[in-house]
Amino acid sequence: MDTCIHRVLLTCLLFSLFSPPFVSAQVCVSETFSSNKLYASCNSLTVLGATLHWTYHPSNGTTDVAYRIQQAATGWVAWAINPKMTGMLGSNALFAYHDSTSGAVNVVSTVINDYMPTVRDENLTFAVYNRSAEYSNGTYTIYASIQLPGNKTTQNIAWQAGTDFTGGAPGGHKLGPPNVLASTSIDFLSGASVPVPSPASDNRLRQKNIHGILNTVAWGIILPVGVLKARYIKSLNPSSPAWFHVHKIFQSIGYIIGVAGFALGLKLGSESKGITHHGHRTMAIVLFCFATIQVSALLVRPKPTHKRRIYWNAYHYSVGILVITLGIINIFAGFNILNPDNKWRRLYIVIICVIAGIAPILEVCKWTMCRNRESRSYTKPENVPSEWAATA
Ligand code: HEM
Ligand SMILES: *[C@@H]1O[C@H](CO)[C@@H](O)[C@H](O)[C@H]1NC(C)=O
Ligand SMILES: *[C@@H]1O[C@H](CO)[C@@H](O)[C@H](O)[C@H]1NC(C)=O
Ligand SMILES: *[C@@H]1O[C@H](CO)[C@@H](O)[C@H](O)[C@H]1NC(C)=O
Ligand SMILES: *[C@@H]1O[C@H](CO)[C@@H](O)[C@H](O)[C@H]1NC(C)=O
Ligand SMILES: *[C@@H]1O[C@H](CO)[C@@H](O)[C@H](O)[C@H]1NC(C)=O
Repeated sequence: MDTCIHRVLLTCLLFSLFSPPFVSAQVCVSETFSSNKLYASCNSLTVLGATLHWTYHPSNGTTDVAYRIQQAATGWVAWAINPKMTGMLGSNALFAYHDSTSGAVNVVSTVINDYMPTVRDENLTFAVYNRSAEYSNGTYTIYASIQLPGNKTTQNIAWQAGTDFTGGAPGGHKLGPPNVLASTSIDFLSGASVPVPSPASDNRLRQKNIHGILNTVAWGIILPVGVLKARYIKSLNPSSPAWFHVHKIFQSIGYIIGVAGFALGLKLGSESKGITHHGHRTMAIVLFCFATIQVSALLVRPKPTHKRRIYWNAYHYSVGILVITLGIINIFAGFNILNPDNKWRRLYIVIICVIAGIAPILEVCKWTMCRNRESRSYTKPENVPSEWAATA
């Protein structure tokens, strides 16, 4: 009995693993086209809700394709074959968008050689016999008949959609996971689709995520928490140098992790040819400089009794606040660029609200505690003993 159930379960499992076409019905099958155009095969592409329909002609190695994707009428869409590589660079793309003057749907073809392509109509590296595009019901459809490069039936393809029209021609698209995963390999003969996102972009996406995590944890969590801890532990026992040790170690760890994240960011920036996120980059460099000054300043901290100490404190507080403010702003700038699932942005907002919410509570505790201590010992917290001067 028991083994019977197991066998049934195992069979179901194997079926669902090895027969995806039966389990997940292809959305593309129900789509229809103008002028009753019919295609032999179709594939619901993995991301961006796009579909590809085609008829392959073995006699001459050509294929008629129809690419369909939802996009606002003010945006652009593109479908590409990449004869040499995977991903965006090297793609031979067909773009469709509404002409800004005539309002007609334009189709242009462009070979993409860098991450800031000039989209103008040019010949591709393979023949395109006819092409057209239409827009209806919120979706663009690009039709074309193409000569499959190298007369090979398996081709790397990429697809994309965006709303940016920099200089009147299609500009960038979002750089988050669905958009950068919009490439695969398709066999126009068998219809098999092998999702092989370019290893380069896969690895880059991982590095971008690591960059985001390191920087968020360092600049956005460890450093602000370290400031709170310093203020709070100090108020618990102002005469003990413990708070300063904890603060120093905590902030140094935050700084080291932050610098690692910053360095990874510079590396990623230098690798994406043709694209610079000026605001994010500049803010990161300014942030790094101030944070480095802040950490170095610990080495030249005057003794509490020294008359320069009051200036040092004022300086240390203001640069500290600046670093943390810039850090948090830049984390949100990074979120906007990487555009991860919204839950990550929300999670970070919750964390930052908790930190920000705890601050006034600690502040109240601190002052009530100081007042109590003051009434007991008549010692003002400012006149703390000079023991912890030794730690500076
Ligand atoms: C029209 C102007 C375009 C701009 C400015 C642009 C810009 C970019 C940038 C900056 C990246 C990220 C590179 C990185 O990881 O550092 C990227 C990735 C990508 N783009 Fe585009 N893109 C454009 C058009 C297209 C088109 C037409 C397609 C496909 C038909 C496409 C497909 C992709 C894909 C699949 C990736 C991720 C894989 C890779 O990096 O190769 N892009 N794009
Ligand atoms: C290729 O073959 C198909 C079907 O045999 C035909 O409809 C099409 O016109 C041919 N294309 C070219 C460019 O010869
Ligand atoms: C393309 O390959 C097929 C066989 O796969 C062959 O029949 C056809 O003649 C080739 N066409 C060209 C243009 O080389
Ligand atoms: C594109 O190719 C066609 C035919 O091969 C040729 O007549 C035309 O001049 C080419 N256009 C450009 C811009 O190179
Ligand atoms: C494109 O041309 C090919 C052959 O020249 C033809 O079979 C096909 O129907 C045409 N497709 C469209 C969308 O006009
Ligand atoms: C328009 O799209 C909606 C869903 O996106 C669909 O239900 C409807 O049938 C479509 N209408 C036409 C005319 O294709």
